[in-house]
This record gives sequence, C-alpha cells and structure tokens, in this order.
Amino acid sequence: MNYRHSFHAGNSADVVKHSLLIALIQALQIKQSALTLIDTHAGCGLYDLLGDQAQRTGEAAQGVLRAFADTNPLLDDYRAAVKSVNEAASHGDEPRLYPGSPQVMAQLLRQQDFLVLNEKHPEDAQALRSVMRSTPAAVHQRDAYELWLALVPPRTPRGVVVVDPPYEQTDERARITTTLGAAHRKWAHGVTVIWYPLKERATHTRWKEQLAKLGIPKFLSVEHWLYDEEQPGIYNGAGLFIVNPPYAFTQALPPMLEALRAALAPEGHRGKLTADWLSE
Ligand SMILES: C[S@@+](CC[C@H](N)C(=O)[O-])C[C@H]1O[C@@H](n2cnc3c(N)ncnc32)[C@H](O)[C@@H]1O
Repeated sequence: MNYRHSFHAGNSADVVKHSLLIALIQALQIKQSALTLIDTHAGCGLYDLLGDQAQRTGEAAQGVLRAFADTNPLLDDYRAAVKSVNEAASHGDEPRLYPGSPQVMAQLLRQQDFLVLNEKHPEDAQALRSVMRSTPAAVHQRDAYELWLALVPPRTPRGVVVVDPPYEQTDERARITTTLGAAHRKWAHGVTVIWYPLKERATHTRWKEQLAKLGIPKFLSVEHWLYDEEQPGIYNGAGLFIVNPPYAFTQALPPMLEALRAALAPEGHRGKLTADWLSE
C-alpha cells in the first residue's frame, strides 16, 4: 500500500467527489428516516495543504483553490465544508486545511444518522482516529471489500456506501465489480458511490461493460474529462458511479456539473462533465 492521499488532497477529483457527495447526502436527508454512511477507503480525514506532501504535487491549485476563486453559489455548500475545518487555520482567503470524505460526511450527520469509516493503512488509520475523535464516527481498520460486504444492509432503513480506492492494485476494478454484485444482492435499494480515475479510455470502457453485465438498475455514471482532447497514458480526469441516486440529486445535477466544469477547467481547455445512465 504505497498510495497516500496527502499528496493529492483537494485536487480537482476531490472537488467533484466531495461536492457531489454533499449534494447526494443532502438529497437523501430531505426524508427524515435515518442514514448510515459507510466510507470503505477513508484516508486520514484531514490534510494540510501547506504540508510537504501536498506542496510536492501542488494539485490543490487546480482543485480546491480554483473552487475558492469561483463564486458560483452552487459550490457554496462545498466551500462551506472546507471553510468549517479552517476556522482556526486560514491562509489569507485560501484554505490551509482540507477535509477528506470522513470530515465532509461528519459535518452532514443529523442526530439519527451513523457514520462508519474504514482505512487499512496503519498510519492513516491512526491519523483518522485522532481527527475523528470529537465526532460520533466509528473507525475500522479492515480490508475495504470485506467490510463493505459485512456491513450491508445497515440497521438503518437507508444508507450510502462510498468506495474510493487508489487503484494501485491491478485487480481493484475486478474486486469492486464482484463486491458490488454481492452487496447489491444483499441490499438492492442501497446507495453506492464509486470513485474512479479516467486514464486509458479502453480500460474504462471495458470496466463499464463488465459493470453493465451485473444488471443493476438505476446505475449512473458521472465523468469529468479535464481536457478537450484525451491525453494518452496520463490522468484525464475522474468519475463516479452512483447506484440508486435519489431523484432530487439527479434533478439538480446538470447545473451543478456545469458549475464544476467551469470552476475546474484547466488553462486553455473547456473540459467536460457528463452524467449518463449505465442502466435506468
Ligand atoms: C483515495 S484515498 C481515500 C480518500 C478519501 N476517501 C477522501 O475522499 O478524502 C484511498 C485510501 O484507501 C486506502 N486503502 C487502499 N486499499 C485499501 C483496502 N483494501 N482497504 C481499506 N483501505 C484501503 C489507502 O490507504 C488510502 O488512504
């Protein structure tokens, strides 16, 4: 396990992932019934954008700092989530600290909701425990796929599983496909969010074909292509697969995607953010 999210925190993928996660959870919270939020690959929970690792890649400059330079009100909730971990530590108008998905989700918890976090890397799991100490979150240090299958269905009537692996293992996509199929058989109405990087289009297309074969209905695919032309062999952006997205979320999605595209477009590119049903 070499991947450390501290090198990448607050990049463009985090902006898209965290703003859509906030919108999705808020849409589910229109109803009062309790939610269990399960984060299978949680990371550290909080990152220092001025720290050595973040500074080495400088990725936040193309992500959260662009979102902060933008004024579209559709990104207000995202900016508020970042601001709330920076109350004591700001750096001019720019945030110094970046909240990972555990902190983003903890901020949204109502009294009736539960948050379950999982991180396998020993150092990151320890950092996560410490960062989340003042929240009601339960923190596990297990294999993500074992935990995912073991915890569904949750005890609450509804819930969301967030799956955000580093894709450093060659079988990552295969493990997700198998676990998603098994989890869906146990919990057909659960909401699942799966993050993925867009590198070679062929790998991505093949994976989508395999996922489509699971026959899972209400399967949405959101893709963020950063550049106007695909750049061979490099990171071209990222996407989210969302199983069972709530209606209020899909209705609000088109202007939100346009806001994210405009805020994150790299110099000289328009970029593209799309949402299509893999199956309806
Ligand atoms: C992309 S980061 C997570 C970022 C986090 N979800 C966020 O949005 O702030 C992926 C994390 O998964 C952890 N990880 C990798 N393989 C894992 C596994 N099999 N089980 C649990 N955690 C794993 C890594 O240590 C890393 O911290």
